Amino acid sequence: MRFEQTFMNFILQHQERHNRTYHFLILMDAIISAAKRIQHYYLTGALKGNLGLVGSVNVQGEEVMRMDQIAQEITIHYLGSCGRVIHAVSEETKEIIPINTEGGRYFVYFDSLDGSSNVSHGLPVGFLFGIAKRNLDGPEDGHLRAGKDYRAAGMFVIPTGTFTLALLDSGTWRFHIDEIMNFVKPIQVMLPEDTRSWELSFNEANRRAFAERVQAWIAEKERKYAFRYLGALAGDFHRILSNGGLFMYPAIVNHPNPEKSRPKGKLRLMYEAAVVAFICREAGGDAVDEAGTPILEIQPEEPHQRTALYVGSKPLVDDIAQILRG
Ligand code: F6P
Repeated sequence: MRFEQTFMNFILQHQERHNRTYHFLILMDAIISAAKRIQHYYLTGALKGNLGLVGSVNVQGEEVMRMDQIAQEITIHYLGSCGRVIHAVSEETKEIIPINTEGGRYFVYFDSLDGSSNVSHGLPVGFLFGIAKRNLDGPEDGHLRAGKDYRAAGMFVIPTGTFTLALLDSGTWRFHIDEIMNFVKPIQVMLPEDTRSWELSFNEANRRAFAERVQAWIAEKERKYAFRYLGALAGDFHRILSNGGLFMYPAIVNHPNPEKSRPKGKLRLMYEAAVVAFICREAGGDAVDEAGTPILEIQPEEPHQRTALYVGSKPLVDDIAQILRG
């Protein structure tokens, strides 16, 4: 019989190779348990009526669907019971969520159901998370960390069943869910250098509201690359990681309806942009904001801070960054 290596075995070997404790393994077990349970609810959601609108709005002013609340509850449960988490920042909760403030070891920043416009169709959504570690050797240095201080970042594509995890200085790895709900078969992901598979991914409906220099850049590049957009960051970024190219959610500076302008960008820094930027860097790529500043360098000032995002193959990120820096 042939057995694929499981995610847990992969992490165990990683920790032992680097002479590390098992705390991270315990945290990852909690995150994996949450993702599997969310996957199950998502797959059976339509039958159970979990995919409808609740009618309330979340802290970002978006409609909350029942699945969002379920995913949040599940994730907080597992992060709490593993005992390793100090605080969490979640897309669904305005304030920072204290968990094990004395004994915890990690900060977790997450959105356990990202891409909610896909929920009512049962189409792919994401569970994105970043992990930073308490300063064990000196005074506590705050719980809102820049992406460059993350130890790991990952994303599940639900219900597709893929899991991508980046470990600091140890690469980006992809796993697939098997028939007994184990994530198995680690494959290291590197962005392809061959430009023939590269794609551009952005919401075309916003294009005329992007800054003029961004519109001009797109016009110059668009004939060279295929264009794909699913509307859920984890799914769109998953394609870019495999095929190369650029995912972007630029600032919306010039929308005819001023309420739809987003001069600071739409995506959230801590649990969307920094997560994919970290994964991308470990896969050989890069990410910048609307000023051309590396996403991983941005120090968050508040948990739900928004940013513009350009993430993907390094040559394209370098190219747009030069334009953005003016
Ligand atoms: O921030 C949530 C999110 O759904 C992302 O997953 C996705 O990339 C983006 O918003 C899609 O936004 P829009 O519908 O404006 O293109």
